[in-house]
Amino acid sequence: MTAAVVARELSVTFESGGGQFQALNAFNLTVEKNEFVSLIGPSGCGKTTVLRCIADLISPTGGSVMVNGIPPRDAIKKRDIGYVFQSATLLEWRNVLKNVMLPLELAGVPRAEALPRAEAMIERVGLTDFVKNYPRQLSGGMQQRVAIARSLVMNPDIILMDEPFAALDEITRDDMNRWLLEVFAQSSTTILFVTHNIREAIMLSDRVVVMAARPGRIVKEFKVSMPRPRTAEQTFTDEFSRIRQEAEEALYGAATRTKVGE
Ligand SMILES: Nc1ncnc2c1ncn2[C@@H]1O[C@H](COP(=O)(O)OP(=O)(O)OP(=O)(O)O)[C@@H](O)[C@H]1O
Ligand SMILES: [Mg+2]
Repeated sequence: MTAAVVARELSVTFESGGGQFQALNAFNLTVEKNEFVSLIGPSGCGKTTVLRCIADLISPTGGSVMVNGIPPRDAIKKRDIGYVFQSATLLEWRNVLKNVMLPLELAGVPRAEALPRAEAMIERVGLTDFVKNYPRQLSGGMQQRVAIARSLVMNPDIILMDEPFAALDEITRDDMNRWLLEVFAQSSTTILFVTHNIREAIMLSDRVVVMAARPGRIVKEFKVSMPRPRTAEQTFTDEFSRIRQEAEEALYGAATRTKVGE
């Protein structure tokens, strides 16, 4: 079966301030269909750069990316990829319904079909009572749910999520994690999720990939075989503590090495 994402020997060099900056080097990652993979790593290690290469927002300097066996540009045209950005990026002048309708409108889906699809998606994110609200009338967590609904409404095969819950308090984040686990369980989607939060990464993922900076690269990978559906009780299991400790060592070890190397 074709993998959802295959990045091979990916490298990205940016021109900056007259010099060159290598943001990614020899980055290799395969995400299988229906897999949930998290990328964690210190700020600036190239997590967003990886997502941008997969979504064809930037072209890598070297190596290749394939999405469902085709180049990212073609996957985007086929609307195979959904992208949830680091901040919610909702349109302030459109209410919840109209924000979620936007991708359908852009794709030319007739309103008679688009409306029930958007309404069903809004129900799935638990915001049916708020369809007429504008983004400023929603909490941060609700805004993120609208952004996620907007990226799910086209039924993308692959969803790229860039720290979608970073701005939320811990209680809301836990709620959103539970909710995302449900969404993932109910669909046949593949998710590549960026976070700084180890607990969140382990809770959600089938695999956690730890990156280090300068140049951005993978330093370690962990398989999380805890059964689904996942529950908060699993955070007290030996497997959870073991992965958490090893991931922390990989993460902070990587961060320390980066500092020493500077
Ligand atoms: N367009 C650009 N031009 C020059 N440098 C860039 C550009 N985009 C990113 N970079 C640099 O590449 C590195 C990786 O950036 P990236 O945004 O991928 O990091 P990140 O891991 O997502 O960080 P954070 O956790 O803070 O979001 C950073 O050092 C950043 O300054
Ligand atoms: Mg980023």
